[in-house]
Amino acid sequence: MFESTDDAMPVQGIDLAQEPDFDLGSLRVRPATCEVERDSVSQTVQRRVMQVLVALAQARGSVVSQDDLVARCWRGLSVTDDAIFRCISKLRKLAADYPDAPFAIETIPGVGYRLTSSGVAAAPGPVAPAAPGNRRRSVRRLGVVALLAFVASIAAAIWIGRTNLGEPPPVRVTVAPFEALTSSENARALARSIPNQIVNQLGDSQVEAVLAGDKDGAGARSGLLVTGILHDDGRNTNVDVRIEDGPTHAALWSAQYKRASDQASDLPLEVAARVADEANMVTFARSGIAAHWKASAYRSILELAEACDVPVRWSCRTGVCHNCESGLVSGAVAYGPEPLEKPADGNLLVCCSQPTGDVVIDL
Ligand code: FES
Repeated sequence: MFESTDDAMPVQGIDLAQEPDFDLGSLRVRPATCEVERDSVSQTVQRRVMQVLVALAQARGSVVSQDDLVARCWRGLSVTDDAIFRCISKLRKLAADYPDAPFAIETIPGVGYRLTSSGVAAAPGPVAPAAPGNRRRSVRRLGVVALLAFVASIAAAIWIGRTNLGEPPPVRVTVAPFEALTSSENARALARSIPNQIVNQLGDSQVEAVLAGDKDGAGARSGLLVTGILHDDGRNTNVDVRIEDGPTHAALWSAQYKRASDQASDLPLEVAARVADEANMVTFARSGIAAHWKASAYRSILELAEACDVPVRWSCRTGVCHNCESGLVSGAVAYGPEPLEKPADGNLLVCCSQPTGDVVIDL
């Protein structure tokens, strides 16, 4: 949960794009791409988690206080201890993924965290954490410079969001042919039309949608896989549709639809619209996070932002106070509940809105 505090002092945070690669034990850490690599195998970590890793590594074995982590990784916003702990947990899990545990993070109760490494940690920069008692003084000394840098970074982020972040993220939805369990030729035709409708619905989104050649979607080596079965007994038409993780086939979402057989002609459109809703992408431009919207899991974009650890101001969560008003870089949203007053042009209220397609938000 995040809220801005009135006296939060803008502090220049860790700009991952400017951080050089460095070694941490047997790992090669690449901040700019949020990757860690060993033996030519790399894995991606979340942007915030990478910022925390860089902050701890730069301390070269010294303790980094929670205040310093917040100042450098959350731009001074007020965050709960839980948000910091989640990042630390993810880093510990990352280290545990490797048999030699290339680094460890020690908790110093009531003080902060210290990163230690079994190998040589060529820390990326000589940035030492400020002593707790001096932090506010040094921040104030740098106030004007930091404020200018902060404003410039926000302007740059908005500019980047409006120019570059509209590019399609590497997300792919593979739609497999729907199996038709029926002797009715009409019902078979309906089953054949559903995948095409889904691809059409996704056609103007950032999602790359393709048809698979077989009902198991064998080509879906990444992204999402949509599968389905249509049953028709002459009286009723039933469609079971399911979204799976492409590589593992783990079920992510499913739904059933039922119509009288003579009233089933609009089923493909309805199924396609619902699948498209589930597959919409929400991009939080400043945080560099893109996530699938799941209409069945989130009531608002605010809930998705919180699930992604994206800092958001909010208060009423019902469309009254406008504390959550943010820039809508691209896309459109619907409101439920309706806010008392609409946000300004080009903005949205994240607490009570849902995407109606792919959206890019200035958060
Ligand atoms: S939090 Fe009050 S309008 Fe969104």
